[in-house]
Amino acid sequence: MPINKAKSLKGEIKVPGDKSISHRGVMFGAISEDITELTGFLDGADCRSTIGCFKAMGIDITQEHDHVVIHGKGLHGLSEPQQVLDVGNSGTTTRLISGILAGQPFVSTLNGDESIQKRPMGRIITPLTQMGAYIRSLKNNNCAPLEVGGVPLAPLRYDSPVASAQVKSCVLLAGLYADGITSVTEPVVSRNHTELMLSGFGANIKSEGLTATVVGGPKLVGQKIEVPGDISSAAFFIVAGLICPNADLLIKNVNTNPTRAGIIKVAQDMGGNIELLNERVVSGEPVADIHVTTSELHGCEISGDIIPTLIDELPVIAVMAACASGTTVIKDASELKVKESDRIATVTENLTNMGCDITPTEDGMIISGGMPLKGTLIKTYLDHRIAMAFAIAGLVADGETTFDNEDCCCISYPDFFKTLNNLTNQ
Ligand code: S3P
Repeated sequence: MPINKAKSLKGEIKVPGDKSISHRGVMFGAISEDITELTGFLDGADCRSTIGCFKAMGIDITQEHDHVVIHGKGLHGLSEPQQVLDVGNSGTTTRLISGILAGQPFVSTLNGDESIQKRPMGRIITPLTQMGAYIRSLKNNNCAPLEVGGVPLAPLRYDSPVASAQVKSCVLLAGLYADGITSVTEPVVSRNHTELMLSGFGANIKSEGLTATVVGGPKLVGQKIEVPGDISSAAFFIVAGLICPNADLLIKNVNTNPTRAGIIKVAQDMGGNIELLNERVVSGEPVADIHVTTSELHGCEISGDIIPTLIDELPVIAVMAACASGTTVIKDASELKVKESDRIATVTENLTNMGCDITPTEDGMIISGGMPLKGTLIKTYLDHRIAMAFAIAGLVADGETTFDNEDCCCISYPDFFKTLNNLTNQ
């Protein structure tokens, strides 16, 4: 679907359910007693991979669009899968499920697509091995395919070298199967959905400063969870509403957990008209409606502790920076290199092709904004967030913006182009 310059952007939308929360709802439901019911579930390819893995381990899960019912079998109720567990494109599935598999009395094999086979798994192999788990990269390259499981686990106090909620969650989930207290200390706090949600399921889990701690062997009990809209999906429309002319957008029911909401602070720092309305708490998570209107933006520095709170939004934040006057410097974000694509490289290549002055650095990028963008063929590298970020750039570019692949949006936002099209045609 080619994207053309938008004359205006007005309306009210709801974005799909939060991806991180949807994954966790299925996983924690599967290892809890009784039924877990999720409404507002993200019916995207990544979360379907998680459902597929637990079905393959004997968990009865029914799904109708965004409504999912999981018949949990308790901490020790999973059965040995008869096939390779297919994690698709999903890093969250791979890393979190490995923590659970490490505590099972059987060995499982995990594998996924080409992208997942390049993503670093040494970061979970190290702590799980320290807990006594059996985990092996079958190609000896610290990537999937992985073989996991089979031995009793010891608790661990882990000092993680990276701020990663996937690593933290993997170790905490393995900690459920260890006899004693397991903790993870991060260099900077990452998203805390695991801590919030596992506590709701009955685990003894706490976070204090940079450290999250869990006590092994809890009885987890199924929950009803309303999954809020994903701020990582709302981000595309937040930026669209700020950079398009004559824009006035209301994005309803978005998760605004402070460990995820860095984009709101950055948009404000850049001079954006952005306000949170109707702030409330739903299933233990802060939620609000987000209102944005056309803004005169200026560049800023984005670095330090805020980075994990907006790591997935940096491609579309780079697009916002390209439309802002002055220079934006993004630092401390080397994790971008190990996402679904190397996002320092893929953002740089596409923004350069659109006529923007951008310099990649070891841990981020420097963007001199304010030059007119021109439409081009976007190279997505099959990365959903690259496709969507550059669809937003296309709304302010001269000429047509096209994509080598649009289907990759199905990972996190299957109706993205439809929603965008509805808004621009009003
Ligand atoms: C996620 C954590 C982040 C994020 C990913 C989802 C999660 O990854 O980029 O999209 O659900 O825990 P890292 O923890 O590796 O930074």
